[in-house]
Amino acid sequence: MKIGADQGDITTVSSEAIVVSLFEGATALDGAAGAVDQAMAGAITSLISAGDIKGKLGELTLIYSFGKLPTPRVVIAGLGKSGELSLEKLGHLSGEVARFLRSSHVKSAASVVHGAWTGGLDPEGCGAAMAEGTLLGLYRFLPHKSTEADADLEELQIIDLDAEKIGSIRRGLERGQILADAANLCRDLANQPSNYLTPTDLAGQAEKLAQDTGLECEVYGPGWMKEKGMGGLLGVAAGSAEEPRFIVLRYNGDGEAKPLALIGKGITFDTGGISIKPSENMGEMKGDMAGGASVIAAMGAIERLKPKANVIGVVPATENMPSGSAIKPGDVLMTMHGKTIEVVNTDAEGRLVLADGLAYAREQGAEALVDVATLTGAVTVALGDVGMGAMTNDSDLIDQVRKAASTAGEKVWELPMWEEYKELISSDVADMKNSGGRPAGSISAAMLLREFAEDTPWVHLDIAGVDSTKKDKGVLVKGATGIPVRTLVHLALQYASETGPAK
Ligand code: BES
Ligand code: ZN
Ligand code: MN
Repeated sequence: MKIGADQGDITTVSSEAIVVSLFEGATALDGAAGAVDQAMAGAITSLISAGDIKGKLGELTLIYSFGKLPTPRVVIAGLGKSGELSLEKLGHLSGEVARFLRSSHVKSAASVVHGAWTGGLDPEGCGAAMAEGTLLGLYRFLPHKSTEADADLEELQIIDLDAEKIGSIRRGLERGQILADAANLCRDLANQPSNYLTPTDLAGQAEKLAQDTGLECEVYGPGWMKEKGMGGLLGVAAGSAEEPRFIVLRYNGDGEAKPLALIGKGITFDTGGISIKPSENMGEMKGDMAGGASVIAAMGAIERLKPKANVIGVVPATENMPSGSAIKPGDVLMTMHGKTIEVVNTDAEGRLVLADGLAYAREQGAEALVDVATLTGAVTVALGDVGMGAMTNDSDLIDQVRKAASTAGEKVWELPMWEEYKELISSDVADMKNSGGRPAGSISAAMLLREFAEDTPWVHLDIAGVDSTKKDKGVLVKGATGIPVRTLVHLALQYASETGPAK
C-alpha cells in the first residue's frame, strides 16, 4: 500500500474519498470539516442538527458529494471529546477508517490529520499513528483462502494546509510503516498453522528476514543444543517428530557495546505433551510461538531503523508433543545454566525452553534481558485481553519497558515478585519444579525464569492474554495481534546510547 503526505487543501482533492473529522458536540465547524461543510451547502451541520452525527470517537459517516466537491465521497470521522484525543486513539481510529473505506470499495483516499493541531499532538507522532493504524487495521491473513478477497485500499494521501508540517508527517509515516510491517510479519507467523510453520520453517523465516535486511542469523539444531547442555529445550522437543531449532538474530549498531537481548518463546504447537490439553480450542496453540515471532519481527524493524545499540534476538523453537519419546511428569531436566528442573507438568513447557534461552543470552554478554512468551493462561485471569503482564528483577529496566509500551500504544501491567512466591516452585528432588499450580500462576512461572536471569536486569512479558483477539477493533484484527512488536522496537530505540541507554 502507498501512504504519503502532501501540502494542500482537502476540498480540492479528487480521490475516490476524502476523510475529515470533528470532535464530539461540535456545532460550528472549522478547519477541513468546516470547509467541506461549506462546499456542500451545510450538509454536515444539518446531519449534526438532525442528531445523525455526534462526533463520538470512532463514529464513521459516509456522505456523497453529488458534484459539489471533486471527490464523490466524504467520510466524517468522530474524534470523541476534544482534549481527550491521543496518538493511541488516533491509531485505532485510523484502523477503523481504513477498514470502513475498504468495505466501501474505496481504493484510493485522502485524509486530513485528525484533530492533530486542535488536539495538540505532534506532527511526526500523528504521521506514525496514522500509518500504523491504517496498515495494522487493514491486515488480513489470506494464504490458505482459495476464494479471492475483496479489493484493498491501495493508497492513502495525508493532506495538510501547513507546508511546514509535511516533512515531520512524512518522517512519522515512514517510521509507522516500518513498525506496522513488523507487527504484520509477526501476525503472519503467529497465524500460520503448525503444519506450515514447524521449528525449521520458523528458522527459515528468520534466515529470510536476515537476508532481506542486514541482520546476522544463526540457526542451530539438536547436536549443538546437546553440546550446550540445553536440557530444557531438548526435553520439550523429545516428544516431537520435528527437530527443534535455536534461532539467533544479531543487530550490530554500536560496536563492542553489550547487547540488549530479546528472548521469545517459540513453541510452534503446544499440545501440552503427556499432560495433554483438552481438545476444545487446542488449535489456538498454533500461536504459542507468538513471543518468538514478535522477537524475530522486531529485529527486522530494528535493523531498518538502525538505532545506535546492539540487540540480539534469541528464539528457542520446538513443538510440545506427547509420544513414546516425550518427557513425562516427574522427569528431571538439566539446563544449560546447570540448574535442574523437575517437570511436574509437561504443559508448563515455555519456561523450560526460555530457561535455556536466557542462559544463552547471558553467555553472549547481554546487558539486559527481555523475554516475551505466551506463558500462562493465568495472565488472562489477571488482566484479560487488555494488557500484557510484566515481571522483573530490575525497576529501571521495567520503567524503560513501560515507557516503550506507552509510546507504542500497547498496555503492560507489572505483577509483584514477592519472595514468598518462591516456595511455589520448590521441589523435593530438583532445584525447582516447573509448575506451582493454580495460585499466582503467572508469577510462579516468572519466579522460575528469574533463576536463569540471575543478576542481569530482566523483564518477562507474559502475552498469553493479548497475543490474539476474537474481534476486529481499532488496529486489531481477529487473529494474531502482533503485540508486543512495537514495544520491543521502541525499547531498542530508547536503548540506543545516543538517546541514553536503559541503565
Ligand atoms: N501456552 C500455554 C499458555 C497459554 C494458554 C497461552 C492459553 C495462550 C492461551 C502454556 O504453555 C501453558 O500450557 N501453560 C499452563 C501452565 C500450567 C500447566 C502451570 C497454563 O497456563 O495452564
Ligand atoms: Zn505453551
Ligand atoms: Mn503449555
